[in-house]
Amino acid sequence: MEMPRVAAALALALSLIFVSMAGQCSGQLQFGFYNGKCRDRNGFQRDVEDIVKQKVKARFSTDTTIVAALLRMQFHDCFVNGCDASILLDVPNGEKTAPPNLSVRGYDFIEEIKTEIENTCPGVVSCADIIVMATRDAVSESRTGWYPVQTGRRDGRVSSAQNVKLPSPSIPVPQAIAAFNSKRLSTIDMVYLLGGHSVGVAHCGLFQNRLYDFKNTGNPDPTMNTTLLKTLQTLCPQNSNSNNSANLDQDPLKSSSVDKSFFEQIRLGNGILEVDQQLALDSNTRFSVARIAGSNDFSFQFGRAMIKLGAVDVKTGKDGEIRRRCAAVNSPSGNSGRNIFNIFG
Ligand code: HEM
Repeated sequence: MEMPRVAAALALALSLIFVSMAGQCSGQLQFGFYNGKCRDRNGFQRDVEDIVKQKVKARFSTDTTIVAALLRMQFHDCFVNGCDASILLDVPNGEKTAPPNLSVRGYDFIEEIKTEIENTCPGVVSCADIIVMATRDAVSESRTGWYPVQTGRRDGRVSSAQNVKLPSPSIPVPQAIAAFNSKRLSTIDMVYLLGGHSVGVAHCGLFQNRLYDFKNTGNPDPTMNTTLLKTLQTLCPQNSNSNNSANLDQDPLKSSSVDKSFFEQIRLGNGILEVDQQLALDSNTRFSVARIAGSNDFSFQFGRAMIKLGAVDVKTGKDGEIRRRCAAVNSPSGNSGRNIFNIFG
């Protein structure tokens, strides 16, 4: 009788040891990973999260669109090769050159923050973590509320346009759900994350197909509110290749804060992208959309979903490095933490 119990206890102990060893080998994301890890030239401890916050605050005071830029950047980074700053690498045919990333903004700003941190405590803070921290701070500047972020990511060494397989603006909701599920994000995570479209803009080319000849019907998308349709037809004339853009959140008073107004707007037929409009109509998501529009927990739940997005396929062990510059790997062979100057000097 005792044997199965002993065996079970042994198995549990072994599995605990295994789990904790796995944790040690690969490292794990943590809240406050950088606490006590950044000392400046004079030996003073510096608060990494505060350095990032001050940079974002200063930038936001002159450019509120940085919120949209960084949110989109985090999504595009995390969905391709995991949250490893691979989107920032300037390499031939890198992710930056893929069509969906051509309109991603904020690359220079992340490098600017990185430079300040490297001048303070070199070789400590990853670019992948800077993207996640700066995005959080920008969202928080937009008066959405603050959420904690986990840190401890390392930077990837590979960036290839071929890996960029992001959902298209016309993706049907069930397929979008499958794409998010493949990153271990649930349907409800996806609904909240699409609340990122409560800020920023989309260019005509990404919704023009809805305005004149939707799916070869010779008519516009019937799900679009007719007032919005007229506005968008003026903004994006037929066969014009216009580079104009429309706010993703059509509430003019709330189009630059990350809030639930996006969900209210798509319920009124004011979704700009096809996927945004379908979110309010598809049977998989429409009840969630109605609930979010009618309640007050969007900020909290959005923060929770952003934490999950920030954990997608992260590198925390030898598979990653701490880059010296966000646009370039230190060493393709994985000689993490050393740059060529160290070899000579
Ligand atoms: C099914 C998923 C998604 C699709 C198909 C999608 C598609 C798009 C498209 C087509 C644009 C317009 C780009 C342009 O005109 O330059 C856009 C903009 C944007 N997306 Fe998404 N997106 C998705 C999910 C997300 C998520 C999860 C976030 C963030 C959490 C996000 C944040 C943004 C932001 C903030 C913008 C505006 C960027 C700016 O103004 O610079 N998107 N998205």
